[in-house]
Amino acid sequence: MKTFELEATETTWEIRGGQTVDGYGYNGRIPGPVLEARAGEPVEIRFTNRLPEPTTIHWHGLRVPAAMDGTDDVQPLVQPGETFVYRFTPADAGTFWYHPHTNETEQLEKGLYGALIVRGPDEPVTDRERILVLDDLKLDKRGELARFGGFKERHDGREGDVRLVNGRAEPELRMAAGQIERWRIINASSARYVRLSIGGRPFRIIGTDGGLIEEPVTVIEALLPAADRIDILVGPFEAGESLEVQALRYNRMTFGRRGTETFATVRVGRAAPSIAAIPSRLRQIPLLAALDATPNRTVKMSVGPSLRRGLDFLVNGERHHQDRPVRVGELQVWDIVNTSLMDHPFHLHGFFFQVLSVNGEPPAFRSWEDVVNLPPRSTTRIAWMPDDRPGSWMYHCHIFEHHEAGMMGHFDVVREGTELANASTGHAHHHAHHH
Ligand code: C2O
Ligand code: CU
Repeated sequence: MKTFELEATETTWEIRGGQTVDGYGYNGRIPGPVLEARAGEPVEIRFTNRLPEPTTIHWHGLRVPAAMDGTDDVQPLVQPGETFVYRFTPADAGTFWYHPHTNETEQLEKGLYGALIVRGPDEPVTDRERILVLDDLKLDKRGELARFGGFKERHDGREGDVRLVNGRAEPELRMAAGQIERWRIINASSARYVRLSIGGRPFRIIGTDGGLIEEPVTVIEALLPAADRIDILVGPFEAGESLEVQALRYNRMTFGRRGTETFATVRVGRAAPSIAAIPSRLRQIPLLAALDATPNRTVKMSVGPSLRRGLDFLVNGERHHQDRPVRVGELQVWDIVNTSLMDHPFHLHGFFFQVLSVNGEPPAFRSWEDVVNLPPRSTTRIAWMPDDRPGSWMYHCHIFEHHEAGMMGHFDVVREGTELANASTGHAHHHAHHH
């Protein structure tokens, strides 16, 4: 068993030489420490909250038992001064992350997030591995965290003008010429979409949310909505080159618009020998369902005017939708319908899904995902299999302001033989405090 200690505290966050903001960190660091585990090896994380407010930790993407999912559906909030012990056994190799699951709009913006890497037995060999946690920060004129809220932030989600890699504004990454690196990229932004480009050069995607894909896919850009992850092979480059790691212009139909912006600069130094060995076949991913499989559920995500709140972000017409339970072992084929005029990153807790189609078109390659972008006015068909981890689960938009506004669904995973009627009403009162 592997044991970790995490402590959330108020932290002075140095975003660049000499410039600090008052943030929150795990173990005094932003991002928090990289937690490394092996697939199949149990981990225990002793978490102590030393913040002036309650919090929890959600293990984003990991197939943990329901009680360890870190949401307020499954555990009491960890109050200031309290300790909570998370225990689970990561089943899958991949790039995951951890973050609070309460007051997310403020707690993540202040710096509470970190990478959790799970290694498998057959990883491709590269010359170097880096983890790049991307984020942005919204500061006011005095350089302090800008006030939270307002209509634009509620609609667009919070975006800031300071672009961070591993907690530092636009750092330089030094790389040796002739080498191939594996970059594990995590988009920890509240709302920002990163249409990733590395100096316009081709790079190879080898993994997504749920670990390796079947074979490397060469691209010149990749879209990472909020909370999404991607593993890529970068290089080889030549000595003296310099490349910008950028987010290309992407219009997700918000009020605010951005052009192409830089997150980091790669400076290529002298050549070093390469030991990289990338198999052409990385993994076999079984297809869960045919592209035209009949959906057994429709999840409708919408945005509409509200007299009381200005705007509502809804699932099936409600805030904090209570969805029907699903049975262990029963294949789920869901149509996620986005009727709104803007993009939303859909996130399912605790289970990986496959995207079968987007507006009837199959995706470019097969993969396991826990986040998928829903383009405006679109239907995304996903398939997933509830394995034997009964309990309360959820899905939601991962733009924190939309999530907070109620664009989420709660549902139970139940074992065979469970009375569905009881299971579906059992939680009705439980979420009353959200409304
Ligand atoms: Cu990464 Cu419910 O969240
Ligand atoms: Cu959204």
